[in-house]
Amino acid sequence: MQNTLKKPILALAIAGSAILAACNQSAPKSNTMADTTSTALAVKLPEASAFERTIDGKKTELFVLKNKKGAEAALTNYGAHLISLLVPDKDGKLTDVVLGFDDLEGFQRAASAYYGAIIGRYGNRLAKGTFTLDGKEYKLFTNNGPNTLHGGKKGFDAMVWDAKQIDSATVEFTYLSKDMEEGFPGNLNVKVIYTLTDDNALKISYEATTDKATPVNLTNHAYFNLNGQGSGIALNHLVQIDADNYTPVDSTLIPTGKIEPVKGTPFDFTTATAIGERIEQDNIQLKDGKGYDHNYVLNKHDISTPIATVVGDKSGIKMEVFTEEPGMQFYTGNFMNGSNSLKGGTPDAHRTAFAMETQHFPDSPNEPSFPTTVLKPGAVYKTQTIYKFSVK
Ligand code: GLA
Repeated sequence: MQNTLKKPILALAIAGSAILAACNQSAPKSNTMADTTSTALAVKLPEASAFERTIDGKKTELFVLKNKKGAEAALTNYGAHLISLLVPDKDGKLTDVVLGFDDLEGFQRAASAYYGAIIGRYGNRLAKGTFTLDGKEYKLFTNNGPNTLHGGKKGFDAMVWDAKQIDSATVEFTYLSKDMEEGFPGNLNVKVIYTLTDDNALKISYEATTDKATPVNLTNHAYFNLNGQGSGIALNHLVQIDADNYTPVDSTLIPTGKIEPVKGTPFDFTTATAIGERIEQDNIQLKDGKGYDHNYVLNKHDISTPIATVVGDKSGIKMEVFTEEPGMQFYTGNFMNGSNSLKGGTPDAHRTAFAMETQHFPDSPNEPSFPTTVLKPGAVYKTQTIYKFSVK
C-alpha cells in the first residue's frame, strides 16, 4: 500500500521539476516579470528587521506612521531618515514618493547623497570650513571641495538618535550633539518630530537648545519623485516656487552674498514650469550647479501658504511645501549617477528626483547680510516644514 502511494508522489515530483526546468529556460520572460515585481515592491514599506542594527552601541529601528486615509511613512532613528512615503495618486493607487533604501546599509553606502536624512548641525555649505562667532574662529572638516557640507565628516544624518513613537502617526527623534562635535561650539539638544496628518501631509517640527552660542540650520534632505520612486527622470514635474529672488553662488556653490531677481533667468519658477525646460540653458549658475542646486529666497514663510507646489506629470500627485524657513535649496539630483540601488532594486539614476530643502541661507555665518543662524543659550530654535500631498 505504501509503495503504491509513493509512486504517484514520485511521478508528481518529476512532472514538477520538468515544469520548473521549462520555466527556467524562458529566462527573458521571467526577467520581465521580475522587473514588474520590483516596481510593485516599491509601494510596500521595507522590512523592520532590515533596520534593526546596533551602531555606535545604540539600537536602530524602523518606525511606521499611518493616517486615517491609508497613507503611510517609514522612518528610522539612524540619521532620523525618512525612508518611504506612500500617498495616493490620481487613481487612488498608493505611490512611494520618496527615494530610499530597503535596508540601513543602503543609507550608509549612499551617505554622501543624504537620502531622506535630517541634516545638521549646519545644513548646506560653510565656505572654506570655517566661521567666526563672538570673535573666535572655528575650523570644521571640509567634505565638499574646499567647503563643509551638511554638518561635516559625520553629520546628524549618520548619528543614531533616541526615538519615541508618540502615536500611530507621530514619531519623535532626539539627539544631543556634544560641545565641539564636528567643530561646532555648545551642547545642542535637538528634537525632530515627524507627523503624518490626516490630510496627507508630512509635518516635520524641529526644536533645539544650546548652552553656548552656535550656528544651527536643520533641514530634511528627502528626494522626491511624485510619479513614484523608480519611475524614471523627474524633469517633467511641474514646479512653482514662490520666490522672486535667489542667492547666486560661486563655482564651489557658496553664495556670493548677493540676492538677485529670478526674473528673466532659468531660475524663475514663479509660474509652474517643468524642471527640465531650461535646465540645459547656457547659464553660468546652472553650469556650476550642474543643474539647479540653489537657495531660493522665499517671498513668504509663515507656514500658512505654500512656498512651492510640484505636480508629478504621470501620477497627478501634487505636493505643496509650507515652511517657516526663509530659504529653500532646490536641488535636481544632478549628482545622482545610478551607482546606488534604491528600494526594490531601482538605480538612483541621474535627475530621477528633486529635493526641496527648507533652510536658512547657505553660509549665513560668513555672510552678515543674511538672516542670522546663531542660536544663543536660553533661546529656542523652533521651526516647521510641511509637505502636503493631494491630486490634481
Ligand atoms: C545638497 C547639496 C548638493 C548635493 C546634495 C547631495 O542638496 O546642495 O550640492 O551635495 O546635497 O548630493
